[in-house]
Parts: sequence; structure tokens; C-alpha cells
Amino acid sequence: MQVLDGKALALKKRKGLAEKTAQLLAKQGIKPCLVVVLVGENPASQVYVRNKEKAAVEAGFESRILRYPETMTETDLLALLAELNQDLEVHGILVQLPLPPQIREDFVLEAIDPSKDVDGFHPFNVGRLWTGDPLRVPSTPAGIMALLEEYGINPAGKKAVVIGRSNIVGKPMAEMLLAADATVTVAHSKTENLAQVAREADILVVAIGRGHFIGPDFVKDGAVVIDVGMNRSPEGKLIGDVDFEAVKEKVSFVTPVPGGVGPMTIAMLLEQTFQAASETHPE
Ligand code: GUN
Repeated sequence: MQVLDGKALALKKRKGLAEKTAQLLAKQGIKPCLVVVLVGENPASQVYVRNKEKAAVEAGFESRILRYPETMTETDLLALLAELNQDLEVHGILVQLPLPPQIREDFVLEAIDPSKDVDGFHPFNVGRLWTGDPLRVPSTPAGIMALLEEYGINPAGKKAVVIGRSNIVGKPMAEMLLAADATVTVAHSKTENLAQVAREADILVVAIGRGHFIGPDFVKDGAVVIDVGMNRSPEGKLIGDVDFEAVKEKVSFVTPVPGGVGPMTIAMLLEQTFQAASETHPE
């Protein structure tokens, strides 16, 4: 069994990005700028946003976090996004999810300029991904594809099973594996005989949000297992959807939690922002 070390690859990518960012600034006077909009006080969101800011600053980006109270209106948020879309100094805009109930998520995501949509959640970017001509793509599945590539795992011709069908992870993951010529099954909470379906997978991606749900009965001998889960154990520890200790003897590769998919997500978000910055000011 080999551990897919997302922490190490993310560090390598961020280092490379810091060098490219220094060059972009020196040669073209452009400093990539990421704006993160945080509405309300969701504790998990606070942690994510802090981590994103730290990584952005370390890569040499300008990072702005705009914090608003839980009571912010949808109209005010849409007006803010219109301003940020117009601002030539802003290259990437990310509205942290979830949003409070008075704000409609789909309206907000559609109000972000697709070229600044570094989350890849705008329907324009979703369509571009599914038609095989991606512009901005969701960071978590992009980070997983980068991990597979780093370890020489080629999905072509392989059977991939994605458990989870969210717009953030499951659906774009399925498309990226399909684009890499895997045969893809998307399973979810309503799937019958889930363990049996999962056991078919050469590559199993798990994003269901239930701590240590996946044990050895879900895993084929020699499978590659990718764990997107971020759950708290009863003791308050960060744990994945996969019971790492229970499957490690059975798999060929597996991501740990923490230190697997999570750090890759942030590295890919920075790459998207760098891309947006270098494209909006062509040489
Ligand atoms: N909330 C949980 N994951 C994400 C993400 O990838 N992007 C945004 N904007 N919000 C999230």
C-alpha cells in the first residue's frame, strides 16, 4: 500500500506557483488577487477561509477576505459581486458556501463573472467542463486528478466509482474521470447494494460525509481509494469517510485524512486564481 501524500504534492505545487507568481509580477506587474466573500459565522467556513488566505499570501498573492453579517441581503451580495466583477485588480472571486437561507445560492453563483469564478461553480463553467473545454474547474476534483497523475495512476480504461453526487465534488469528479477515459459510475445515498457497487471500482472516490463509513467490504483488492471526507469523530478528531486503518492492507493507494485531498483543494484554488490573473492580462 502506498499513501497518496496530498500535503507533499500541495506544497510542491504551491512552491512552483510562488515562483511563477514572482515572475508574473516582475515581468508584467501583475499580482494575482483572490477575493473571498464570507457571509455569517459558520465555524467550518471560518477555518476554510483562513487556510485559503494563508496559502494565497504565501504564494505571493493579494488576498482579501470580505466578511458580512449573517443578515446580509441577497441584493447587497449581488451588488458586491457586480462591483468585484468590474474591478480589474480582482482576478478570482469565491463566495464561501453555505450561504444563509435568505440568499439564493444559484443566483449568487450565476452573478460571478465566469472568468473570475475560481470555484468553477458558475453554470457556464459547469457546461464548459462537461463539453470537454474547461475554463475554471472545481478545486477538489481537480486536486484529486493531480494526485492521480503525480503517482502515475492513469484512469484510462479503468472502472471508477464516485460515491457522492454534489455539484462541488461528485458530479465534476465523475466528468473529470470520464474525460480521462475511465468508465464511471456515480453512486449515492439511495444506491442499492452500495458496498457491492463500490467493490467493482479500480478507483474509488468517496465524498459522502459520514465518518469511517467505508470499510474493507467496500473495497476491491488493489483498488485506489480517494477519501474526500472531513468529519469530526466523537472525540473531535478530523476523520475521513474511509476507515484508513481497516482498508490499508487491501488497497494499492489511499489518501489519508488529514493530509490527502484537503491540501490539494487549496493548491488548485490558487492555480485557478493564477490562471485567471495571467489570462486577463495577456502578454
Ligand atoms: N464550502 C465547502 N467547500 C467549498 C468550496 O469548495 N468552495 C466554496 N466556495 N465553498 C465551499
